[in-house]
Amino acid sequence: MNILQLMAHPDYNNQKRAANRLADVGLKTLQEKLNGQGTIEALNVYDPNNFIPQITADTLNLTNPKETSAERLKNHEAQHKLIKQWKSAEYIYIYMPLHNWNVPAKFKDYLDNILTAGETFKYTETGSVGLMSDKTTKVTFILTSGSEYDTDYRYVNLDIAPQYMRGVLHMMGINQMKLIRAQGLDIIINDKEEIMKSAEKELVGYISSNSYK
Ligand SMILES: Cc1cc2nc3c(=O)[nH]c(=O)nc-3n(C[C@H](O)[C@H](O)[C@H](O)COP(=O)(O)O)c2cc1C
Repeated sequence: MNILQLMAHPDYNNQKRAANRLADVGLKTLQEKLNGQGTIEALNVYDPNNFIPQITADTLNLTNPKETSAERLKNHEAQHKLIKQWKSAEYIYIYMPLHNWNVPAKFKDYLDNILTAGETFKYTETGSVGLMSDKTTKVTFILTSGSEYDTDYRYVNLDIAPQYMRGVLHMMGINQMKLIRAQGLDIIINDKEEIMKSAEKELVGYISSNSYK
């Protein structure tokens, strides 16, 4: 049993940040539930110790490592390490704050590595086909946000991050995504602690309900 916990808060060491706090609760719940069985790998894409290649003129089309510079090879190796980790996870938990209606920029970089043809999807004559499946890869997306996206009319059509994630996963053949939110955290009249407690409760309940077999 391989579990991957991805985190994408730029303030990656600050446990008071909502997404980091939820990630901490999620990790502890998983550790208790697994009780030493299986492996849990945690990766924060903003931690400078974790090298996440970016698409640049130098890294575009990292397909032929034999004809390449040392820099391109370094990027290619890092990219394939990320892909291997993603593909070998049976459960993936992703924690992040909402940034300008979408995933934080560095998480987009991360996905640019994962969405590699021949690895997580392939091109066919009739279009792309996913090479993964929601039967073997269960993805949970935990999203914190300043505004309320389920209920506030101004924002329902700007609910891009979950739609984007569903689209990305669909491309890979994963057509299920559990979404857990802590939303409305920056609305002054809201009780932030109450929102967090409620999200933590939902997260703990959900993580505990999976069998991990
Ligand atoms: C650069 C930036 C962009 C943000 N964009 C949005 C947004 O588009 N929608 C939203 O509801 N909240 C947005 N927020 C608010 C954060 O999502 C929210 O404060 C965070 O989830 C919880 O705060 P914390 O990470 O400081 O604990 C943004 C915050 C920052 C720093």
